[in-house]
Amino acid sequence: MIAVPEEFTRTTLAREGDAGSAWLAELPGIVEELLERWGCVPDGPVMHGGVGVVVPVRRPDGGTAVLKVSFPHPGNVHEPDAFAAWGGRGAVALHERDDERFAMLLERVRAATLAELADGDELVTVAARLGRRLAVPAPAHLPRLCEQAGAWEEGLRGDARELAHALPARVVDAAVATVRELGRVQPDTLVHGDLHARNILRADREPWLAVDPKGYAGDPAYDGGTLLKSRALALLEADDLHGAVHRVLDVFAEGAELDRERVRRWAQLHAVQAAFWGRRHGFRRARRGPGRDRLTDFADHLAQLLTRPR
Ligand SMILES: Nc1ncnc2c1ncn2[C@@H]1O[C@H](COP(=O)(O)OP(=O)(O)O)[C@@H](O)[C@H]1O
Ligand SMILES: [Mg+2]
Repeated sequence: MIAVPEEFTRTTLAREGDAGSAWLAELPGIVEELLERWGCVPDGPVMHGGVGVVVPVRRPDGGTAVLKVSFPHPGNVHEPDAFAAWGGRGAVALHERDDERFAMLLERVRAATLAELADGDELVTVAARLGRRLAVPAPAHLPRLCEQAGAWEEGLRGDARELAHALPARVVDAAVATVRELGRVQPDTLVHGDLHARNILRADREPWLAVDPKGYAGDPAYDGGTLLKSRALALLEADDLHGAVHRVLDVFAEGAELDRERVRRWAQLHAVQAAFWGRRHGFRRARRGPGRDRLTDFADHLAQLLTRPR
């Protein structure tokens, strides 16, 4: 019987309530069943992220792998489709899947993540080049980011109206314009959807491999915004925030071979959405109080810096 990490139990219960409690009760049984079906044995302490447990295992041939079982949430449905489309190029390989159980047997890589890299430029370059490799034609049935454009626009307008906030109208208008001009019609490219440094792991077959994709079809520049948002805490320490933010855009656009303006506009939209999200729900790092206020102020500031081309 595997031991589900306590922190994972706590956060799942807090987020999912009774449904989380019912699933957690089943989880050790699900893991047992899949280990048996795929002929694997546990091989090390159970790891976890926000939504899934990751069990290191040995396969029948002695090779290493991990079994990932995620909470059955619609946002986790397309992860195996993305891995299947990449076929191990730029991401960990998918060995087995059980979609009903939200489970996958994946190639195991090392524990170190790209987030441990001290050099910010190098970190962004690695993520960007990986983003470039992952930008392959999207499988037909993936959720299309363009289908979210209507909800994004409504969300922005509703939040701007209902929430007490300090964002100038031109900043919100720029985000709405991005949704209208870049959001409504998008290429059919496979988008990782959560490309940040903790979802990029050290590997041997390739120096770095991606894990934990959402699997969307859309504009690859979208992931530039995801990455920039994940750099926010590092940027918080920067002496010259304006310079540092635009440097991330330069380096990302170059490494990912994307139009810099497109990356900037997606990043601006992500920052405005984060500024509103923080006011409604708080942040993972600070749900409420002065910590939350500091982060919402910072998101406002980022959104404003990103509103102009440079
Ligand atoms: N293929 C893998 N090989 C080795 N470790 C992994 C692998 N996939 C995930 N992990 C470990 O498990 C953690 C959570 O995995 P992740 O897929 O990001 O889950 P979540 O969807 O919950 O965020 C990662 O941060 C990493 O430490
Ligand atoms: Mg993750």
